[in-house]
Amino acid sequence: MNSIKNLLKTTHILDTELVVRGWLLTKRAQKEITFININDGSCPQGLQLVLQSTLFDNLVDFTIGCSLEATGKIVETYKSLSNTSPEKIPLYEMQCSKLVLIGTCDTETYPFAKTKLSLEYLRKFSHIRGRTSTYGSIFRLRSQIMLEMHKYLGGNEEFLFLNPPIITRGDCEGGGGVFQLTEKDLSVISPTQLNKFDWVQDHFSQPVYLTVSSQLQLEALACSLGRVYTTNKSFRAEHSTTHKHLSEFEHLEVEACYVNLSELMDIAENLIKNIGQNILNTCIDDIKNLEKFISPNLSARLVHITTSKYIRTSYGDAIKLLQRLRTELKLETDIIDGMDLNSEMESALTTHYDAPVFVYDWPFEIKAFYMKRSDTNPTLCKNFDLLMPYKVGELIGGSIREDSYEKITEVVALRKMNVDPIQYYLDLRKFGSVPHGGFGLGLDRLVMLMTGMDNVKDVVPFPIQYKSCDY
Ligand code: 4AD
Ligand code: MG
Repeated sequence: MNSIKNLLKTTHILDTELVVRGWLLTKRAQKEITFININDGSCPQGLQLVLQSTLFDNLVDFTIGCSLEATGKIVETYKSLSNTSPEKIPLYEMQCSKLVLIGTCDTETYPFAKTKLSLEYLRKFSHIRGRTSTYGSIFRLRSQIMLEMHKYLGGNEEFLFLNPPIITRGDCEGGGGVFQLTEKDLSVISPTQLNKFDWVQDHFSQPVYLTVSSQLQLEALACSLGRVYTTNKSFRAEHSTTHKHLSEFEHLEVEACYVNLSELMDIAENLIKNIGQNILNTCIDDIKNLEKFISPNLSARLVHITTSKYIRTSYGDAIKLLQRLRTELKLETDIIDGMDLNSEMESALTTHYDAPVFVYDWPFEIKAFYMKRSDTNPTLCKNFDLLMPYKVGELIGGSIREDSYEKITEVVALRKMNVDPIQYYLDLRKFGSVPHGGFGLGLDRLVMLMTGMDNVKDVVPFPIQYKSCDY
């Protein structure tokens, strides 16, 4: 049994009887010949079956969406490149000798019985949208991006792949935004009773949450094993429905001992470029397919991301630049030193440089407690955000971690944090502490960038967002 992709790759397929299985995409019945296009999810082009209509008495049962098994010989034909061009390209199709219906499809209720469906419409059917040409390509690219990431980090760079738990006692980034887990429905308990809630009776005998980031546990692993990464899901309870925020997202997190900020940025930049170059080599059919239907200039975008030099600018310089550009670009926001950058400002920076931009050395005040402060200016920290063009914005947040027990406990006290859930983390600084750092990359945003999709809901198999959890 062969996938259509493998079958089309082999040169000795001609004139051999083969079996393929797939789902019916289109059917065109003529008096003597019926053409059926099928796909099995392995490649964008699928396979055309050619049937002598008179030899098959049950062709009406083969409707759009049904699953089938076809037997026949592959033949080579030629297809015009376009209506105007005399140029022809080779095309393989199957002269079908046997067709078996595996699963019928109820055409009355099948949501994809018509062609030309909008992304908005298709989003309502996450459980079958992978059958369409566009989503097929997006999900194959997503899979390859993950594979290339593992090959690069786990292979070339010798990081160990370990997954910390997603159920945790801490909230890592601070600022709330956590989903709390409990067996009891806390919403029916009044606020006054909530304070008296007897956690000992609950599943974990204490409040626990879905993780917002695996970083702290990953730091613990790095402090035993040197270089580690995970692709855990992270969960954010923000009430946000933007084109790039999910409640549950796939989070690549990398942690390494004895790195400095510049080396961390190198790892991030090389990782993205390596993934981009490899998908350009391995997934060109899917890239071309998306270019044709949904993401014009996708290959040019990938070349741009993989060949341009990523700009590295300090937060202070980025703010000064934005202040200069504000009138020219008609930016809505007043640019004030010390503020966080919003999407408009991120986009102004990447457009100005026409490249991805690392912004480093941010004000410690607006960043997480674990970041190490700058040696020369303690109001700044040794961190970076990587901003991407093409409306993706922040793709990565990373930093060198504070490795001094005295300094980190001082910050924890200043920010009035609950010490108990992170005692293990603080203790790491007492037991052979080493300089280390890492970053978190939103993999769904990377897939947006590398497929040309504008909405994160279109690159995640089953997207979960504020007010929207359908599966
Ligand atoms: O910048 P963030 O919040 O950083 C952390 O969580 C660090 N603890 C990571 C680390 O150093 N190990 O998140 C990292 C990245 C963001 O840059 C963004 O790409 C993605 O995660 N991200 C989201 N992606 C989709 N939906 C959301 N709600 C996201 N929140 C963050
Ligand atoms: Mg961030």
